[in-house]
Amino acid sequence: HRTTAGAVLAELRERARAVLDPAHYDYFAGGVGDEVVLGGNEAAFRRLALLPRVLRGAPTRDLSVDLPGGRLAAPVLVAPTAFHRLAHPEGESATARAVAAARTVLVSGVASTVAIADVVAAARSVDPDAAVWFQLYPQPDDEVTACLVRRAERAGCTALVVTADSPVLGRHRRDAEHGFHDLPAGLAAENMRDLPGAAPGALRDIAMSPAVSWAHLDRLRASTSLPLWLKGVLHPRDAVLAVEHGVSGVVVSNHGGRQCDVVPAAVEALPAVVDAVAGRVPVVLDGGVRCGGDVAVALALGAAAVGVGRPVLWGLAAAGEAGVARVLDVLRDEVDHLLALCGGRDLADLTRDQVVARSAGVC
Ligand code: FNR
Repeated sequence: HRTTAGAVLAELRERARAVLDPAHYDYFAGGVGDEVVLGGNEAAFRRLALLPRVLRGAPTRDLSVDLPGGRLAAPVLVAPTAFHRLAHPEGESATARAVAAARTVLVSGVASTVAIADVVAAARSVDPDAAVWFQLYPQPDDEVTACLVRRAERAGCTALVVTADSPVLGRHRRDAEHGFHDLPAGLAAENMRDLPGAAPGALRDIAMSPAVSWAHLDRLRASTSLPLWLKGVLHPRDAVLAVEHGVSGVVVSNHGGRQCDVVPAAVEALPAVVDAVAGRVPVVLDGGVRCGGDVAVALALGAAAVGVGRPVLWGLAAAGEAGVARVLDVLRDEVDHLLALCGGRDLADLTRDQVVARSAGVC
């Protein structure tokens, strides 16, 4: 008899809240502005329902998905989140081991508190074939971007994820209220050490720049043979531009409600992007995924996989590597169970005609 993923994730979140410094808990939990989008991401999933298909005669199930940059045993990858050592002393190394054991993908952030080479080494200590992707913000200084790309390549990353939704930093009320602006002593964004334009050993700030454009993306893409994902796409026209600029995949995301507080829920923006991309590249969704049903709905709407951000941080804070493993395991198990309930054999058997609006009232 198993519990639900929703219950497990909620319990891990409460354990994380109990062990974390309140300023750090709120840094992870919070969003921008009045946190309309933060709540909206989860609420939008509650408004969607799934129509199972029956008697399809599918005796076995396959949850795996092949994406540019890696094969996932289940359609749930770990979205890039900053500063894992705020959650647990082993930080991104613990996360990487759990994700590798689950045979899915960790998107490791440029703002990791463990250097990318050590993150990949931790993943490969569990599975020599583990896929770790590197997320970065295009830096206004191409030389800095190029140096970060080289680091990811040398570390053995198998894809790059360029985050495009952050021309300026979002305004986080909770951080302002706590006065949380700097990492505690001993923690740093380790990938930002020894970059061009800084003294040896010194850290460069991660720049967010409204001057960044498609030309920066083009130069980045030309500088590497790794598959490139563009993260933070909401407008279908941008998804088309991304394909035209040669990306290998698109991530529909509103940054977990941490950038612009006027945007739709991620799952609301998904169908139009899927239509615009028209199968040319895979589309991943992140934002508000908290149970197997959310994963199934996103896949039925055309996502190839989903990313989870905060749930992984709660697992990490509550129980380190084992906590992250638990998050990925309950989600995989619940998706598998739902696919069976929908008579599906593989993830392609979840289709858009199965998604309907949940009506507010009952007649
Ligand atoms: C993020 N996210 C993020 N995204 C990114 O591209 N680079 C980053 O450095 C970060 N940092 C970050 C920190 C924290 C604390 C959170 C919660 C999120 C956004 C992340 O990749 C993802 O889009 C959201 O977390 C998905 O929403 P959920 O799963 O947290 O609801």
